[in-house]
Order: sequence, then C-alpha cells, then structure tokens
Amino acid sequence: MSSPDRYAVMGNPIAHSKSPLIHSLFARQTGETLTYEAILVPLDGFAEAVERFGREGGKGLNVTVPFKQEAWRLAGVRTPRAEMAGAVNTLRFDPSGLWGDNTDGAGLVRDLVANHGVSLAGRRILVLGAGGAVRGVLQPLLDERPSELVIANRTVAKAKALVELFGDRGIALRACGFDALAGERFDLVINGTSAGLHGEMPPLPDDLLAEGACAYDMAYGEQPTVFVRWAGEHHAALALDGLGMLVEQAAESFYQWRGIRPDTAPVIARLREGGDEGG
Ligand code: ATR
Repeated sequence: MSSPDRYAVMGNPIAHSKSPLIHSLFARQTGETLTYEAILVPLDGFAEAVERFGREGGKGLNVTVPFKQEAWRLAGVRTPRAEMAGAVNTLRFDPSGLWGDNTDGAGLVRDLVANHGVSLAGRRILVLGAGGAVRGVLQPLLDERPSELVIANRTVAKAKALVELFGDRGIALRACGFDALAGERFDLVINGTSAGLHGEMPPLPDDLLAEGACAYDMAYGEQPTVFVRWAGEHHAALALDGLGMLVEQAAESFYQWRGIRPDTAPVIARLREGGDEGG
C-alpha cells in the first residue's frame, strides 16, 4: 500500500497553528488519505526546508508568518491572485516545479459572502491597515466590485503605495489616514491592522458604520477582539472575527491540492467550541 500524501504548514512560531486540526478534519470528512503536520522552520532556513520537504515526497505546504514573501519568491509559477498579493500561503509540488497561490483573500470573501450573506458588490468598503495582510486580500475584494474601497492606515504612504499597485481596475480606490475618516460612512469595515495584537485599536470616528454595516476583524482570538468589541459598541449589524476566514483559506488550499472542496461549516463550529486537539 502506498503511504498517505504528505502536507504541512511551515512558520515561526508554529506551535499554536490551527491548520493541522483544520486539515485533519477536512481529510476525515472528504475521505482523503493524507497527513498534515506543523513544521517549525528557522528564520534563515525556509528555502532549505521547502526543498527538503519536496525531496522527501511532500505534496504541498501552507506557509505562514514570516515566510509568505519568501514563498512567493521561491514559487516558479504563481496564480494571478498570488502575484498581486506579493505573498504565497499555499505551495504545491507539481511535476513541473513549485506552484504558489494565495488563498487568504478568497477565504475572506467566501466567509463574508457565503457564510454570512454579506454582499460586497456596489458597497462602500473601508480597509484598515496597509501591511502584508491587507495586500494579500485586496485583489479578491476588488473582484467583488464594491462601489468604492478606501484604505486607511496610520502611515498614509503605505496605503498610497497599495492604491498605486491596485488602482486602475475600474473601482474607485483611495488612501487616507484615520483622521480623514471623519464624516464618512461605510457598509463594510475590515480590520487588517495588527493593532489588536497589542490590545490597541486604530482611532476611528464613532459614526463610521452605516446602517446595517458589517465589521470584520481579520484576526481572531479565544475572546472577542478589541475591534469586534468596538463594532458591537458602535451598533454594527454584524461583528465578525477572522476564524471563518482562517478555515475558508484552508479549504481553498485543500481544494487546490486535492480538487475537493470540504464543507467548512462543521469545522468552523468545531473550532468555535474550542479546538481541543490544540492549534
Ligand atoms: P501584517 O503582515 O500583519 O499585515 P505588517 O505588514 O507589519 O503586518 O502590517 C501591520 C499593519 O498594522 C500596518 O498597517 C500598521 O500600520 P503602519 O503601516 O502605520 O505601521 C498597522 N498597525 C500596527 N499597529 C497599529 C496600531 N497600534 N494602530 C494602528 N495601526 C497599527
């Protein structure tokens, strides 16, 4: 009997990753025979670790902090969405070489649209932050054809650089600082800053959310994030954290590897209960 196909997530740190649990639940649900492990990679050892994994017969990898940009450079072939993201979170060892994709934005859009019924077409969207996490999701957001997308960041120059990169696609796209948001209203506000990691919140005006607005934090935690709490206090119709995005980006990776789309709802529910098998 042939041994199961081998997959893994590489990062540093990696101990708290939920990807092994998510992918083992997907494998069980779909009847796919595979293994999925978490590999801690030294900061200067990513290329070597990828090469070794492939040489040992590995089929695919997820890539997380801080290696997504390096994975982008390593991939010989990249999907258009990975190309624009400047980062790769999914690698596949194809006979023709290393193939790279970025499933983060698709995961975000799928969680919003399919899981929560939030339509993006024709809506005003505000994205907070202009780092790697935001760059990774802009293309799939713009593909949904919002009426306008505003990128607000503490360092305005970084938001402007993203507008340069993603502009001219027929969607009104602009950059600003947080203080320029006074008097504006949005249907969807997505937090892509890392402020919450330090228990902080970007300084936002109290009346930022339009009637019926959705607030989405790309981060998640055991407890509601600072941004999710802010959204609740400011009457968001929907205040969501990024757990659904995490599971959806994993499902999209699984699909790119196996050609089968897992049912994400029971996996999201299981993680909400508390992933007892550890992250
Ligand atoms: P990531 O990969 O998570 O995107 P990053 O590239 O370092 O990490 O980007 C972090 C983002 O969070 C940036 O937009 C950063 O703003 P600056 O570009 O001005 O640094 C934003 N950020 C981090 N801490 C913040 C805080 N306390 N308030 C507001 N924005 C913050």
